Amino acid sequence: MNTKVLKVDQSHIDQNLIEQAADFIKNEELVAFPTETVYGLGANGLVPEAAAKIYAAKGRPSDNPLILHISDIEQLKPLVTDIPEAAKKAMKAFWPGPMTVILNKKAIVPDGTTGGLSTVAVRMPDHPVALALISASQCPIAAPSANTSGRPSPTKAEHVFEDMKGKIPCILDGGMVGIGIESTIIDFTGEHPMILRPGFITPEMFEEVIGEPVSIDPAVLDSNKLKGLAPKAPGMKYKHYAPKADLLLVSGDIDKVVGYINKKTEQAHDQALRVGIIGTDDTISSYHGDVILSIGTRDSDDTIAQNLYDVLRQFDHEDVDVIYSQVFDSGENGFAIMNRLTKAAGYDRIEV
Ligand code: TXA
Ligand code: MG
Repeated sequence: MNTKVLKVDQSHIDQNLIEQAADFIKNEELVAFPTETVYGLGANGLVPEAAAKIYAAKGRPSDNPLILHISDIEQLKPLVTDIPEAAKKAMKAFWPGPMTVILNKKAIVPDGTTGGLSTVAVRMPDHPVALALISASQCPIAAPSANTSGRPSPTKAEHVFEDMKGKIPCILDGGMVGIGIESTIIDFTGEHPMILRPGFITPEMFEEVIGEPVSIDPAVLDSNKLKGLAPKAPGMKYKHYAPKADLLLVSGDIDKVVGYINKKTEQAHDQALRVGIIGTDDTISSYHGDVILSIGTRDSDDTIAQNLYDVLRQFDHEDVDVIYSQVFDSGENGFAIMNRLTKAAGYDRIEV
């Protein structure tokens, strides 16, 4: 299959390109498109045969449900049985934006989209290209992140091309995304709202808007990993975002972290191993590894979120045997960043 890449300028959207992409969606084909979080791999969310193509292209387990993307709040009502007050407040505050809500689904939403669950995930993305595509397609668009299952989510059209070339007919290229990590998922079907996946919108931001306590799925707090809890978002149980080389996180006072990683690098070199290092703009010149990449500025967690997946993907193109990384747990994105990075490292972390 030939994969067409259509470059769209966000500030002057060429409606002709959007219509070309929407035609694929209308014909039950797949289109990858930019959102403010990561690129999505879209299909008509109300047609099971279309959604099935997403699972095939990604190699995604079929019990892992998809998010339905809408461009207008009117599209929500036909999809869900009820919208609790707390959910209304959250949608008013955070849509369009990096928030996915879990609500009880109506029969019109096929089991092929929700992995057989009685609930459905819905999001209104804050990206002009995504909104234009959904609106031109005249249906809710089911879209997971547009990566091969198990690889880092795509934050650039080039990442999508790397994974989906020859497997899908169309990629809308809207340049690099703004946020860089997937939306916060919040479940409104229980007694109290519960965050199933951390993201740019934090528990505190929700509590301020909703005016009631918001809990976090205990299985998402990595300290609980060993207790063997099953996460409530099916996708959170898979080993995600793993780079090909072993990744080890090193936390502690930054001077000690640099010292430790340099010592480990020397030991690795003695064994003829090649070392990759993930640092920040202010630390990379202090390391002696073979491939040293900066993930952003230490005092701007927004830059770190934006570059996280790109850096992990870059290492897959490098010949390194082991990767050491600082931890990036500060700022409002710290929790969401570490949720992804900790999984990428297979929970390998040492404190120095
Ligand atoms: O930012 C995002 O959310 C991106 C962009 C493309 O919108 N999408 C994304 O989709 O990250 P995906 O498929 O990679 O992650 C969706 C997550 C999975 O962990 C899935 O298990 C969970 O949402 N999910 C979907 N429907 C659910 C439901 N009904 N109940 C609980 N979890 C659900
Ligand atoms: Mg994903």
